[in-house]
Amino acid sequence: MSTRPRTPSPGTPAPGKLPITELALMRERHQPIVMVTAYDAPSGRLADEAGVDLILVGDSAAMTVLGHDSTVPASMDEMIVLTRAVTRGARRPLVIADMPFGSFQVSDADAITNAIRFVKEAGADAVKLEGAGPSLSRAQAIVGAGVPVMGHIGLTPQSATALGGFRAQGRTADQARRLLDDARALEAAGCFAIVLEAVPAPVAAEITGRLSVPTIGIGAGAETDGQVLVWHDLLGLYDGPSPRFVKQYADLATSILDAVAAYADDVRERRFPEAVHTYAMSDEELAAFRGAVPARPR
Ligand code: KIV
Repeated sequence: MSTRPRTPSPGTPAPGKLPITELALMRERHQPIVMVTAYDAPSGRLADEAGVDLILVGDSAAMTVLGHDSTVPASMDEMIVLTRAVTRGARRPLVIADMPFGSFQVSDADAITNAIRFVKEAGADAVKLEGAGPSLSRAQAIVGAGVPVMGHIGLTPQSATALGGFRAQGRTADQARRLLDDARALEAAGCFAIVLEAVPAPVAAEITGRLSVPTIGIGAGAETDGQVLVWHDLLGLYDGPSPRFVKQYADLATSILDAVAAYADDVRERRFPEAVHTYAMSDEELAAFRGAVPARPR
């Protein structure tokens, strides 16, 4: 039987869970915050065992695990299933559920309802939502309902079409100024941290220095308070072009391909299974069984 602690009631910090207030202290200590995405129980468990601080169940799942070519199709029901799996695997890291496109755009009430679903049905510790502008009142409403919110500005993939594609943001003085205003507004709306995606490093550094909540960068240079990478990018599992900000730490796709091909070969050559992989039966019982059934037709 597992010795792992029982899953706590949704919304109740589990024993050993990183307190969300610790993130601000890490920022003060200049201790980098480590975030990674995960989409199932094994990746949640491995991320926890590797010592990451935050796990994002990103709507990048639409591309990494559901096979879509953008994040837009991810649905609430799909994100709930994935988040629930991650919270079963992860104990210490805070698990942040990404609010998919359509789950918060319509109204504050929708945003609250869906954020609460993540907490109650999936055991999420917090939610993330993309954008500023109309997202500000959503963030404020969700925080007001008692669910911590992480903001996300810069390249926000749910609105990539409106942004002119998957491209870096904040590369002109005006755009950089707007990003800073958005970051401040999200902070004022009550966000506990803000993701800065695909933003020039000096702009991210300026924003980070002007906020009191931590920034988590992805393609935003080394001076944000933390970093996030997508699981499949980090491990070499994503079968598509990687943005320039990705650092790949392993080539699991090749390892998996080699392993599955070796298995297929062993089955076809009758090298698997071997005796060690099968269950024995006493000669006596086998003889009794054979005696009790009609002879096999020839
Ligand atoms: O969905 C996701 O994985 C994200 C990260 C890239 C921050 O939003």
